[in-house]
Amino acid sequence: MRKALAAVAGLAAVGLALAGCSGGADSGNAGGSDDDSQVEVFTWWAAGSEKAGLDALVKVFDEQFPNTEFVNAAVAGGAGSNAKNALASRLKANNPPDSFQAHAGAELTDYIEADKLEDLSSFYKDNGLNDVFPSTLLDRLTVDGKIYSVPSNIHRANVVWLNTSVLTDAGIDPTKAPADLDAWLADMETLKANGVETPLSVATDWTQVQLFENVLLSVLGADGYSGLWDGSTKFDDAKVTKAIDYYTKLLSFANTDGTGQDWPVATDMVIDGTAAYNVMGDWALAQFDAKGKVYGTDYTTWPTPGTDGTFDFLADSFTLPVGAPHAGGAKNWLKTISSADGQKAFNLAKGSIPARTDADPADYPEYQQGAIASFSEDTVVSSLAHGAAVKVSWLNDVTSAIGQFVSTSDAKTLQDALVQAQTKALG
Ligand code: GAL
Repeated sequence: MRKALAAVAGLAAVGLALAGCSGGADSGNAGGSDDDSQVEVFTWWAAGSEKAGLDALVKVFDEQFPNTEFVNAAVAGGAGSNAKNALASRLKANNPPDSFQAHAGAELTDYIEADKLEDLSSFYKDNGLNDVFPSTLLDRLTVDGKIYSVPSNIHRANVVWLNTSVLTDAGIDPTKAPADLDAWLADMETLKANGVETPLSVATDWTQVQLFENVLLSVLGADGYSGLWDGSTKFDDAKVTKAIDYYTKLLSFANTDGTGQDWPVATDMVIDGTAAYNVMGDWALAQFDAKGKVYGTDYTTWPTPGTDGTFDFLADSFTLPVGAPHAGGAKNWLKTISSADGQKAFNLAKGSIPARTDADPADYPEYQQGAIASFSEDTVVSSLAHGAAVKVSWLNDVTSAIGQFVSTSDAKTLQDALVQAQTKALG
């Protein structure tokens, strides 16, 4: 990936030059085609509940723009684990899709610096979007006064999903969130003692990073955690050492065969009662729904212990790449995803909350009403695992360090690698 991004950066000038000669059927614009006969949309929502979310959005798109054909270019793999590399290759080859999914925030840094994305500031102005998205989100989308993507939703990453009967059977009240990580670990001990083999489920590397991010947030608090990404908190801090210690303990209660499995496998373990807890972003809600489970009865949620009052934020957003063959189609797509109807249909199916502030919470079920309230009242911090906090190369370094740690349990090596990754990224 790093290699691919370096190549992308090197090709920036070529990409810009090619933008003028990549027109579609009825083009003629020097800055890219206004062809709206179709739109090729690149996401990682290829299967299951995530595809159901995309389908709900496409349904609204087809109603709003019946003359623009939707071409699905989804690449399977949660959190973009495969899609991000595939996208980098396409951009490197100057073969961009008309629009691609990316997280709001630092994830787009490399592509912006390589001039791979169109500035959408005037699209925002023309469509009144500066007034409908909250400043917490607009601030994270704005780079040097320009804005390069349009959000479809907001997800929360510090959520524990739990199977109520697994807890009740072990004598634990599922409605009471443990006060902190120590209390949570004590409950995991109780579950073990009651024959629950896997108190906590994890899956592939990015879910392990997401769990670690939750522990960092719990131990360092919102300010300390956010400081990691601007360098005001150093990774050699004693609190990071403490977080690694908690992480080690949590992993000792987790399944050891997660690596290589995508997130639905870990969430399904809670759904079917083979695990008690799963720390997952709230796309998990759609998975529980798809399996017919009832919130508050079969399962419930609380913020990861020690993170109550904090909303660990990420948002999916969509871009207009330089040289998109059907820029007109892409703009239609961006109009649908930012529209009130598009956001409602999508978020009801996806488990996330609308990015628009004019949405009515009463349209959403209980979990999402809680998330909407938390986003507006709580301290909002940026997710590490989902592209809000750091650029892709930094996340890649953290992911390989965590991946190594999960197999070796070598705390010192992990902390050293995290220190190095921060120094490399921030200088
Ligand atoms: C996140 C993305 C979510 C969901 C999740 C699992 O990165 O923002 O929309 O798709 O990955 O794949």
